[in-house]
Amino acid sequence: MKGIVFSEFNDMVEETFSPEILDRIIEKAALPSGGAYTSVGTYDHVELVSLVTHLSEETGIDAGELVRAFGKHLAGRFATQYPAFFNGVDGTLDFLETIEAHVHVEVRKLYPDAELPIFDTRRHDRDHLQMTYRSNRPFADLAEGLILGCAEHFNENLKISREDNQHNGINESRFAIQQQN
Ligand code: HEM
Repeated sequence: MKGIVFSEFNDMVEETFSPEILDRIIEKAALPSGGAYTSVGTYDHVELVSLVTHLSEETGIDAGELVRAFGKHLAGRFATQYPAFFNGVDGTLDFLETIEAHVHVEVRKLYPDAELPIFDTRRHDRDHLQMTYRSNRPFADLAEGLILGCAEHFNENLKISREDNQHNGINESRFAIQQQN
């Protein structure tokens, strides 16, 4: 996982909780990287899982909820850092349909060693999208947070239901997404 993701996570912890809590979880997680991330470096995604686990212990907040909150934060950063992906797109569901074939394709050009999930989308009608996440990493909560963060960007309300499965080490989550306004 790219260092940029870790730096954003660290920023969120500092802003939402405190610099002291960030120091404490980095120390407790005893990370191979020591917690010093560069944006272009690549680190084991297990380091993020470990940081989240310690943050959950430290704050008493469920780990899944923390990862979803991080996803929302990350979507906000992406909207600021990569406005071109969002400009000219009509709404959240249209935007989500561009991730697999456009956004992540460009991400891969920028970072050839990026570890990206696979998304499969099916648009039932204007207000209904089914989006399936597949990855050998366990970040469906991150995907959910990113989806919700995108909806915030477009000022829309979504109703999301989700079904998680796992086969042959692949995490598969099917999101049924309904636009409500
Ligand atoms: C402009 C928008 C976006 C940008 C620039 C972007 C970029 C990235 C980058 C840089 C990574 C890290 C790759 C690595 O660490 O090796 C990543 C991973 C990921 N992205 Fe995106 N992304 C965007 C939108 C989204 C959206 C809307 C979703 C959800 C529907 C999503 C789902 C994910 C997930 C779940 C991962 C973690 C890797 C995994 O689970 O296998 N991304 N993305």
